[in-house]
Amino acid sequence: MTNQPIGVFDSGFGGLTILKELVTALPAYDYLYLGDNARAPYGHKSFDIVYEYTKEAVDWFFNRGCNLVILACNTASAKALRSIQQENLPLLKDSNKRVLGVIRPTAEVIGTLSRAGHVGVLGTNGTVQSESYLMEIAKFFPEVQVTQEACPEWVSLVEENRCDSEEAHHYVALHLNNIINQDPQIDTLLLACTHYPLLMKTIKSHLSDEIRIVSQGEIVANSLKKYLEKHPHMENNCSKQGITTFYTTGDCSDFNSHASLFFGKSVTAHRLNLK
Ligand code: DGL
Repeated sequence: MTNQPIGVFDSGFGGLTILKELVTALPAYDYLYLGDNARAPYGHKSFDIVYEYTKEAVDWFFNRGCNLVILACNTASAKALRSIQQENLPLLKDSNKRVLGVIRPTAEVIGTLSRAGHVGVLGTNGTVQSESYLMEIAKFFPEVQVTQEACPEWVSLVEENRCDSEEAHHYVALHLNNIINQDPQIDTLLLACTHYPLLMKTIKSHLSDEIRIVSQGEIVANSLKKYLEKHPHMENNCSKQGITTFYTTGDCSDFNSHASLFFGKSVTAHRLNLK
């Protein structure tokens, strides 16, 4: 078996906010990023569709030799990860193939960030409906009260680069008011969608300084670091030349022009068809 990059998958651009932190925290490794832009967004798609698309992506990574794949998308982690881990991976009969998500690492730490024990989760419709955060946080912090709010307009506002627009302020204020009204004791708000960190400034402008806003990039990067330390056989399989390669199922020039917004640097993507 040859050493291979760590696969990072998202429905489109959002996973680049996670990848950015992975590259910062673990710069020695190689990464292979795939955004399924042609079929994004996933946020309002059914369980079956998100599972089917995510599985196709994971198969693509495995066929290219990747051993470790991170679903850097909350919706895919919420709707597809469990089936992939429990049903598909065992069929491969290859203990070197692993798929990780972003929900569990976040759930593992979020309770330590809230002093009041009241956490708000902001995500896509799909992530909220799956109730994955409610279930995962309850496993680690049963005493923490978790309130959810779907913010369906936020992804397109980010993708259209309208984070500071009047509409963005309107929808940000709307959903923040909704969630704080549901639980006025919330002191920690989790941005449980990879796009939302780009709205940070707008979100902060509608919240008191007392409420802590948590985005996932660093949490996922710390968790991957620990994972690789705890699983030396997986770490040994990772190639380490510090190279990151980008693929999209969508239009490359569109990907390249949007990606820097999420990744903080310009990128050059290759195109592929998943089906
Ligand atoms: N990447 C998705 C997430 O984190 C948001 C974009 C989408 O709906 O596809 O949930």
